[in-house]
Amino acid sequence: MGAGLLAGKVVVVSGVGPGLGRGLAVRCAKAGADVVLAARNEKRLDEVAGEVEKLGQRAVTVPTDITDAAACERLAATALESCGRVDGLVNNAFATPPLKDLTTVDIDAVRAGFETNVLAALRLTRLFVPALEACGGSVVMVNSAVLRHSRRTFGAYKMAKAALLAMAQNLSTELGPRGVRVNTIAPGYIWADNLKWYFDHLAKKRGVTAQQVYDENAATTDLRRLPEPDEVADAVVFMLSPLARAITGQCLDVNSGEWHH
Ligand SMILES: NC(=O)c1ccc[n+]([C@@H]2O[C@H](COP(=O)([O-])OP(=O)(O)OC[C@H]3O[C@@H](n4cnc5c(N)ncnc54)[C@H](OP(=O)(O)O)[C@@H]3O)[C@@H](O)[C@H]2O)c1
Repeated sequence: MGAGLLAGKVVVVSGVGPGLGRGLAVRCAKAGADVVLAARNEKRLDEVAGEVEKLGQRAVTVPTDITDAAACERLAATALESCGRVDGLVNNAFATPPLKDLTTVDIDAVRAGFETNVLAALRLTRLFVPALEACGGSVVMVNSAVLRHSRRTFGAYKMAKAALLAMAQNLSTELGPRGVRVNTIAPGYIWADNLKWYFDHLAKKRGVTAQQVYDENAATTDLRRLPEPDEVADAVVFMLSPLARAITGQCLDVNSGEWHH
């Protein structure tokens, strides 16, 4: 067992994608945790599992569509069978809802966004409660700075993330007496491949450089830079760790000071 903040612990991460999901798995491992990795893309799970193992921690990959109840049950059972305990669950998986005004957006697409971004996280959390209760564990919901503004075309995304925040707060009230903490982190833009692609796209559209788009966005933050996945992941490591043992029902913004909350 290492000496990190999460030494001896087991953390389950949903939505291990190329950005924050990968960062979460790697930073939890760096902090001493064994990691259970869930998402649909098996190849990516294997790649990230390799990085976890290189850090000397155990990685268990469980290909999972979190909108599939049976697959989630398999995930919870496999995590417990393989690792014997679960100390942390990070609900990171998300599906981008349509970026359209609420006055015109397709209602079924909004509903589908709720399925992955809210209800699937609830389903997973419920499945892990007994294991979390057994070792005084905690849950972290990954939210977004979309909570802090009401820009056009972000309505469906904001509705889903606002519901996720409400859910985390109520779960905290329900699970606190059972010794399980439930917190939220709300990143602003995360400087990873998805955003790099998006800034390139905006730059081409406007006939400016991608660096210019980056600088304009960074200028709106106090630290004048956009956080990287590992920096956001470290806030999650803190929330999962004993350092946060008296913190529950809270939302921590990780945005280089773009929004003050
Ligand atoms: N990127 C940003 O700038 C930003 C800003 C604010 C907040 N956030 C939040 O941060 C979190 C991570 O965002 P990210 O952009 O860095 O993404 P990411 O962690 O790189 O990837 C998320 C992964 O979720 C997985 N996923 C989607 N639907 C799923 C399902 N039904 N079952 C299982 N897994 C599923 C996808 O993998 P599979 O296709 O393999 O399943 C996807 O790769 C999200 O909650 C997002 O709202 C991101």
